[in-house]
Amino acid sequence: MNLQTPNTLAPHNKYLHPKLKRYMESLGDLVAAYQPSLFWERELGNSLISGLIQDIHGKTEQEIVEGICSLRYGFTDLPDDCPQPDRQEAFQQAWQLWHTLDQKQKAIRKELKQDANLLEHAQGLRFLDRQGLLEDYVNALAKLKITSSFSNIRHFYYARLIQQISNERWPGQTHDFLEIGAGAGNLAIFLENFGLVQSYTIVDLPEMLVNAAYTITNYLPEYDIRFCAENYEFTPVKQTASFIPASHLHVLNGSFFSIALNFNSFMEMDKQAIDGYFDLIYRCCKPESLFLNVNRRQRALPQRDGTSFDNNPLLYPYRTTDQVLRWEEDILQQVMRSGYGVVPSLAVIRAALISPDA
Ligand SMILES: C[S@@+](CC[C@H](N)C(=O)[O-])C[C@H]1O[C@@H](n2cnc3c(N)ncnc32)[C@H](O)[C@@H]1O
Repeated sequence: MNLQTPNTLAPHNKYLHPKLKRYMESLGDLVAAYQPSLFWERELGNSLISGLIQDIHGKTEQEIVEGICSLRYGFTDLPDDCPQPDRQEAFQQAWQLWHTLDQKQKAIRKELKQDANLLEHAQGLRFLDRQGLLEDYVNALAKLKITSSFSNIRHFYYARLIQQISNERWPGQTHDFLEIGAGAGNLAIFLENFGLVQSYTIVDLPEMLVNAAYTITNYLPEYDIRFCAENYEFTPVKQTASFIPASHLHVLNGSFFSIALNFNSFMEMDKQAIDGYFDLIYRCCKPESLFLNVNRRQRALPQRDGTSFDNNPLLYPYRTTDQVLRWEEDILQQVMRSGYGVVPSLAVIRAALISPDA
C-alpha cells in the first residue's frame, strides 16, 4: 500500500487532547504486550507511529499529530478556499473519470447491441487467460470441433474444477453423475472428454431433455441413451445417458450417484422444487459423494401466487453434516457479468462431500 508523505497528511491547527497525549506516553508498553498479525505489523511499521512511540517526549505537538495521521483512514479537511466538497479536486477527478467510463461503457454496449453475450464472452476469455487456462480451453474446443462461447467458457471451467476435485480425491476414477437442470447437456460433453464419466443422468423439464439428448447423441455417439418412463427400474449403466423428467423423480429410488451437479438452475426454480431436489440429492447420492452447485441470487423470482421469492443460494437447505470443500463467490460469473459501477448478482459456488450420516 502506498503511504502518502507525512507532509500531505500534516493538518495544521488540529487539537491534541491532553488525555490522548497521556495515552500515547503509555503506548510503548501496550505495543510490547500484544503481537498483531504480520499484515498489521507491516502496516504499522510503514507509519510514523513507531518512531513517535520511541521518543514521544522529544516531539512537538505538530509532529505527534503528523504521526497519528500517518496511520491513515482519517478525514482530509476541505481547503479553506474550497468549502464545497463537490468542487474539490478529489471529487472532481473521480466524477470526471466516472463520466468518461460511463460514456465508454455506453458506447461499448451500443456497439454490442447485436450480440448481448459478446461482452460476457470477452470477459470470460480474459478470465481464462489470467487463470492460465486459455490454451487448455482452446484445445478442448478443437477436440470437440466447436466454437468458443460464453457458456462454453463456463462449462469448460466447471468441468476443470470437477476434474481437479476428482483427481485429488479419487485419482483415476470415473463417476456416475446426476445433473439437475442441464440445459443442452453441454457440461456432460466436457466431463466425458476429461475422462470423468461412467454414466450420466439428467433430470430436467421434459421439453429441455430433448435438447440434452440431442447434444449427447451428436457429441457422444458411442453412448446409449434412455428416457426413463414412470415405472422405469433405474440403475446407472456404463456409457449410458439417462433422461428423467422432473415429474418422475420417484424413478431414482436408491443410492446411485457419486457426483451430483446443478448449474444456474436452482436459481430459476420455486422453493418447493429446490427443496425436492435437495431431498433427492441427499437420498440418491452415495456416502462421500460430491455435491457441487453454482447459482446466482435472484432477489425477486416471481411466484405463481403473485408474490416474489428471494432465491438466495446461501440459504439453500443444505445438511449440516456436509463436509464443505468450497463455499464462496463464483469468481468466473462475477467477472463475466461485471462492468464499471455494475455489481452483478451474487454467484455462489459450493462443493461438499455428502456425509454417510445424511
Ligand atoms: C439457465 S438453464 C441452465 C442450464 C445449464 N445448467 C447451464 O449452466 O447452462 C436452467 C435449467 O434448469 C432447468 N429447469 C428449470 N426448472 C426446472 C425444474 N423444476 N426441474 C428441473 N430442471 C429445471 C431448465 O430447463 C434449464 O435446463
